[in-house]
Amino acid sequence: MRAALVDEADFLRDWLASERVQTNEVRRCWWLLPCFLEVARRRSVDAFDCVEFGCSGGLNLLWDRYGYEYANGSFSGAPTFAGEERTPVPVSPLPPVRSRIGVDAAPPDLNTDDGVRYLKSFVWVGQEQRLADLDAAVTVWRRDPPDIVVGDILDELPELLGRGPNLVWSTAALDYMPRERRQAVHDLIAEAGVAYVETGRPLDGSHDYYGLFVDGDEVAHAEFHGAWVDWLA
Ligand SMILES: C[S@@+](CC[C@H](N)C(=O)[O-])C[C@H]1O[C@@H](n2cnc3c(N)ncnc32)[C@H](O)[C@@H]1O
Repeated sequence: MRAALVDEADFLRDWLASERVQTNEVRRCWWLLPCFLEVARRRSVDAFDCVEFGCSGGLNLLWDRYGYEYANGSFSGAPTFAGEERTPVPVSPLPPVRSRIGVDAAPPDLNTDDGVRYLKSFVWVGQEQRLADLDAAVTVWRRDPPDIVVGDILDELPELLGRGPNLVWSTAALDYMPRERRQAVHDLIAEAGVAYVETGRPLDGSHDYYGLFVDGDEVAHAEFHGAWVDWLA
């Protein structure tokens, strides 16, 4: 490892300076699903029309194809995700997905080994489960990939909202936008009145985990990569 850092120092210096952070954490779906169920309960959704901002390769757009286990119930699919529920999440019937589309400035092409390797290069050393999750989800993705618009979230937003989604979400993406553009995204979503799920700084100010927000209400705290959730709502 040390030898690679020394031998490839020039490449690594250029690469770190030029690349944006590019991860696609599929285990985040394990704490996204309870948020989507919260949307379904609040808005009596019978089928989801989904838009994801900053979807990277689009693995999380396929959230309904994976399986999930919770203290109060489970959903079948593969791979199956479970984690630590510090407070059990509410479980209710899951509406099907009717449509899905994502937007990302630089989605890796998961049809190619290079695309997958690129995503893996952002996984921290020793986190074998994250690598295994990625491989398992890429297998699902390759069977039937989602549509992804290549572009900037704010620029593409009017077109995407014009499609009439009833579920919009974003995890670990809006933080990379300048504050004014992030605010403009929030204003457009509020104007459209569409259900919105996002990760953000928790209201207690902690930097150690995400706050999960449904329509601006903090419903949970969650470990960044999906290891645990603490349901607050
Ligand atoms: C840290 S990754 C998270 C990906 C995914 N949401 C997840 O949770 O696994 C951030 C993603 O946001 C995208 N992104 C950041 N700023 C963007 C922008 N202004 N417009 C479109 N995509 C953006 C990046 O290309 C990257 O794929």
